[in-house]
Amino acid sequence: AAEPDLAGRHVVVSAGGTREPLDPVRYLGNRSSGKQGYALARTAAARGARVTLVAANSVLPDPAGVDVVHAGTAVQLREAVLKAAADADAVVMAAAVADFRPAVYAEGKIKKEGDREPEPVALTRNPDILAELAGTRARPGQLVVGFAAETHNVLANGRAKLARKGCDLLVVNEVGERKTFGSAENEAVILAADGGETPVPYGPKEALADTLWDLVVRRIPKG
Ligand code: C5P
Repeated sequence: AAEPDLAGRHVVVSAGGTREPLDPVRYLGNRSSGKQGYALARTAAARGARVTLVAANSVLPDPAGVDVVHAGTAVQLREAVLKAAADADAVVMAAAVADFRPAVYAEGKIKKEGDREPEPVALTRNPDILAELAGTRARPGQLVVGFAAETHNVLANGRAKLARKGCDLLVVNEVGERKTFGSAENEAVILAADGGETPVPYGPKEALADTLWDLVVRRIPKG
């Protein structure tokens, strides 16, 4: 069994990908499976934490011993995460949150009419939940962790994002064929605001999750 080094702690993990509705039957979404976030929730529970998993549109079963809150859109996810974060020691934003949503929601299904060209879809910004969490810190010493998927200049882009978001740790994934989206494996570098850089070799998402919790445990205030 794992060391109970998160006993007495409350951690919040978001997972999956938001879906931003255009009309009652269509949405803008992304390819996140939720596997990394669910692995984080399972491993934190195994280490003794009370875990709130805010799950966005994942088909994975609710992990045992974890409080699961389901949220569909970025706005719903924000509400659920902020509520759970109020008394949390750490918040990990593993969810792929849509940066934009359709500016208008059509109450009825959008129809194609004869040969008429389709209307362009106008988008509006979603709130940046990670930046908000890092900027407000519901509790002194609360640890805020983000994820970033990059295709090039992984470390430089990761450092810039860590600073921009204001979080404590950022897990930077390189998006590739066999890893990250939908895969059971991942490979990443975990960047810390205090300068640390922890490479995580290609392997199961549970291994990355445990490495991240090691870094979190070291940084949350005692007591
Ligand atoms: O800016 P980017 O989408 O690359 O940042 C990714 C990180 O920010 C992830 O941790 C994701 O959960 C979080 N995020 C967020 N709200 C958004 C967009 C991203 O919390 N609107």
